Amino acid sequence: MTRDEIIKGLTVLDPSELFAEADRVRRECVGDEVHLRGLVEFSNVCGRDCLYCGLRRSNKEIVRYGMDMAGVFETARIACEMGYRSVVLQSGESARYPTEEIAGLVRRIKKDLGLAVTLSLGERSRETYAAWREAGADRYLLRFETSSREIFQRLKPDSSYDERMQCLRSLRELDFQVGSGIMVGLPSQTPEIIADDILLMKDLDLDMIGIGPFIPNPDTPLAGEKGGCLDLTLRTLALIRIVTRNAHIPATTAMGSIDPQGRQKALRCGANVLMPNVTPTQYREHYQLYPGKICIKDRPGDCMLCITGMVASLGRTVAQGPGHSLKRPVSGAV
Ligand code: SAM
Ligand code: SF4
Ligand code: FES
Repeated sequence: MTRDEIIKGLTVLDPSELFAEADRVRRECVGDEVHLRGLVEFSNVCGRDCLYCGLRRSNKEIVRYGMDMAGVFETARIACEMGYRSVVLQSGESARYPTEEIAGLVRRIKKDLGLAVTLSLGERSRETYAAWREAGADRYLLRFETSSREIFQRLKPDSSYDERMQCLRSLRELDFQVGSGIMVGLPSQTPEIIADDILLMKDLDLDMIGIGPFIPNPDTPLAGEKGGCLDLTLRTLALIRIVTRNAHIPATTAMGSIDPQGRQKALRCGANVLMPNVTPTQYREHYQLYPGKICIKDRPGDCMLCITGMVASLGRTVAQGPGHSLKRPVSGAV
């Protein structure tokens, strides 16, 4: 697809043909199986000050927490018992957990549980990424958030676009399965910028692509902004599916948070992954990137039941394997 064709897809009056094409490409390139990744949000401590995020260090309105590694392992063990074959360990970006502590956790999860492990801990040094890969981490998620340097710099004032891109390159060189993505509906974002985002995703040849609507958080400087709508998010998702073919693309929590049917709709126009929350319930209300986040009061088992029902109601099946990348041969795969 050309840039102009992508822009047309983002702006055309009736997107139903676009959605049908994305669903067809999804079926042809990744099939009817939906992969589940159990999401452990193990710490909301963050040293960065991203303008859009409720975990930003200047936000004094939230209660900070950090699970210990034994607690994270136990959470992963319960997820494994419930049937998950893959976990995502996510947190704010902070040096609170030294490289070796995370490496030890990954080693134990790989050895005792045999799960595929995805990390999403922000920007770290190449040496740290190498140690985590060496410990057995399979995948890393790091959204570039926007391909517009100008918007990036404004919304992530203490980060650098070039350094984030360098992190993505290092992760690829270290043989991680790499995931990245954007938020839709950021202030000043245009269809042209989203088209460039999508072309960048293709260029980076990403194994996984996560997108969601930007949802303004009242405790951040972007409180008064409009935020992203589901329609534009679904158009972006559909175009990403058509352009990147066999990437793994989740129907994200943010989509489900702005519309009760958001994730179901996403699964019908290109998505093939769900990331149910497996974080112990007592921490969930404190990992509020944005208001209205779903599953805050639910327990891991509730989410598993809800998700399997959702997949079945769409006539799809839950995948039984770890759901590795379809883009390239995977080394050290379980
Ligand atoms: N700290 C790590 C990082 O920034 O890469 C990982 C955790 S961070 C909370 C995960 C993602 O949440 C970010 O990449 C961003 O796209 C998303 N996010 C943050 N604030 C958001 C908001 N207000 N609305 C929607 N998504 C948001
Ligand atoms: Fe921290 Fe990530 Fe939120 Fe930025 S998006 S404030 S790095 S948790
Ligand atoms: Fe948590 Fe539906 S996924 S209750």
